[in-house]
Amino acid sequence: HGTSNINEQNHLTIGGVDTISLARTYGTPLYIYDVALIRKRARAFKEAFRQHGVTAQVAYASKAFSCLAQVQVMKEEEMSLDVVSGGELYTALAAGFPPERIHFHGNNKSKEEIAYALRENVGCFVVDNDYELQLLNVMAAQQQKKPNILLRMTPGVEAHTHDYILTGQEDSKFGFDLQNGQAETALVTALTMQHLTVLGIHVHIGSQIFECDGFVVTIQKLYEAMATWQQRYEFIPTVLNLGGGFGIRYTEEDEPLEPEVYISAMMDEVKRCCAHYELPLPEVWIEPGRAIVGDAGTTIYAIGSQKAIPGVRHYVAVDGGMSDNIRPALYSAQYEAMIANRATEQGTEKVAIAGKCCESGDMLIWDLPLPAVTDEDFLAVFCTGAYGYAMANNYNRLPRPAVVFVENGHEQLVIRRERYEDVMALDVPLQQGAPV
Ligand code: LLP
Repeated sequence: HGTSNINEQNHLTIGGVDTISLARTYGTPLYIYDVALIRKRARAFKEAFRQHGVTAQVAYASKAFSCLAQVQVMKEEEMSLDVVSGGELYTALAAGFPPERIHFHGNNKSKEEIAYALRENVGCFVVDNDYELQLLNVMAAQQQKKPNILLRMTPGVEAHTHDYILTGQEDSKFGFDLQNGQAETALVTALTMQHLTVLGIHVHIGSQIFECDGFVVTIQKLYEAMATWQQRYEFIPTVLNLGGGFGIRYTEEDEPLEPEVYISAMMDEVKRCCAHYELPLPEVWIEPGRAIVGDAGTTIYAIGSQKAIPGVRHYVAVDGGMSDNIRPALYSAQYEAMIANRATEQGTEKVAIAGKCCESGDMLIWDLPLPAVTDEDFLAVFCTGAYGYAMANNYNRLPRPAVVFVENGHEQLVIRRERYEDVMALDVPLQQGAPV
């Protein structure tokens, strides 16, 4: 997929660059991102909206993977950006991302984060709860600002992969409940606030979604409510933000839809509802994270020790694991992989790929067909671009990997590998003789 290929040395290449030479140059574990594929995904979402003739913003959810270079690529592609913390905002601004296209999320933004985002004039705050609504209004007044806000609502629809469920009472830490009147109360409050401009409504119904129904049902529920709010308060949203969650193919069982299929379903329903309730067409915003970077990322590991338990399992260990990709341990997430330096060789035995962390649950793949391997070999694990490096950690004081961008035969280091000094950089030693 993407720009992956196999060269005459039987090595996996990405973006026209040999992954084994990258592994030798930058060490392992190594994250490699196919930048052409990132651009392709970003453009597909933007183009889908263009086809529908609607004003849209496609905000990359930077929680999926954020660093200066990634934000720079998103800026080049004229995307918008969803940030959920002061740290993501700081990275975005340092990369020169236009603040007016930054949307600030989070269910517990701190006062410092709010002050920072106000000072930097972010494009909008996605207000999650009443505490934040009150706080933001007061802090905006102090800074003599009038920020745009979206109100995040939980519509009682939860979507995941092939199913969505309707819940009578939402049990979620996020947003104002649409079904018990909370959302309406919040809207009425927000509309009276002197220092806030209510731009519209935000919803996010889940992640790794393969069907359109969840989005369609959500739009219907929102429009039912919005028709009432128009009559009662003359509120007409300028913006409808439908969140992220578009699925990707991790394994053959996954069957994601093309961006244009999701967007068409959304836009058809928005247009239908607008006509039905005689409301003007809003701007439609979305926030894909995984669907932009997920399949663009590949992790290369060096193979190390092996343990065969006859009749039970053959463990093959790699030089990373839950420290660079916690998703298998945390969500039982599944991945496909291959030997990157013997790319065309067929698997002869099903092995289990173990990480190197001191924890039994540190497994990357349980059932991977591989040829016989040695410590000369490299494993490529695919589709690690979203929530991989972003959720990496220093468990066991392992230094986090390097990240390389490749495109058109060129490579560029975008995050250098941590060194032991980096891992220890924040430590403060005990002072000899002083009481703790
Ligand atoms: N917008 C909001 C408000 C979100 O909460 C999220 C993800 C997104 C957008 C982007 O969702 P995406 O398009 O990437 O599915 N760590 C988990 C995923 C957590 C998603 C959290 N919110 C994982 O590794 O699967």
